[in-house]
Amino acid sequence: MKILLAITGASGVIYGVKLLKKLNEIEDLTVDLVISESGKELIELELEIDHKELSKHAHITFEPDDLRAPPSSGSSLYDYMLIVPCSISTLSKIATGSADNLITRAASVMLKERRGLLMVPRETPLSTIHLENMARLSSEGCIILPASPAFYGKPKDIEELVDFIVGKTLDSIGIDNDIYTRWTEDVIR
Ligand SMILES: Cc1cc2nc3c(=O)[nH]c(=O)nc-3n(C[C@H](O)[C@H](O)[C@H](O)COP(=O)(O)O)c2cc1C
Repeated sequence: MKILLAITGASGVIYGVKLLKKLNEIEDLTVDLVISESGKELIELELEIDHKELSKHAHITFEPDDLRAPPSSGSSLYDYMLIVPCSISTLSKIATGSADNLITRAASVMLKERRGLLMVPRETPLSTIHLENMARLSSEGCIILPASPAFYGKPKDIEELVDFIVGKTLDSIGIDNDIYTRWTEDVIR
């Protein structure tokens, strides 16, 4: 499986970073990475790490302004593009067909080629414009997976909340995982 992971400038970049590390551990899976300029700032602000450190967990890291990079073309054959977290700005641009950087262009390619596109938006509350853009993307087959972790697994810390979203993202693209607590008999009792 070949995956393109984009991290954009919404709060919760930890979701994207944990997902990147998890994907990189999976055999027979290639993960390429692109981080928007705002995403880079948020990584430094929220995680206090240099975004450049993340390249070691990816096969190739592309710059967001590099529209000549392979993800700009449908011939690059990614199975899935995951945008985690996805800013409302990026989500709205994709919903309206804008392709002004590598992330929006690659997403536009995934839609036209009818390949897998998943976004984890993080914003609250949501305006009607946001909701309409999400509905539009959903009707095009895009999976909208809001960053809203469940609490039935009684998470003990932030890591476990993050794992819930990472696990649900992996579930959505058919990757077996046991990184979050599922609703089972053990949890109920
Ligand atoms: C500290 C900080 C937190 C932000 N949090 C969010 C957020 O949670 N959701 C969102 O949609 N935008 C958020 N933004 C705004 C985006 O970063 C901004 O719209 C940016 O243009 C997005 O660019 P990108 O989509 O290319 O990453 C935040 C900005 C800052 C500085």
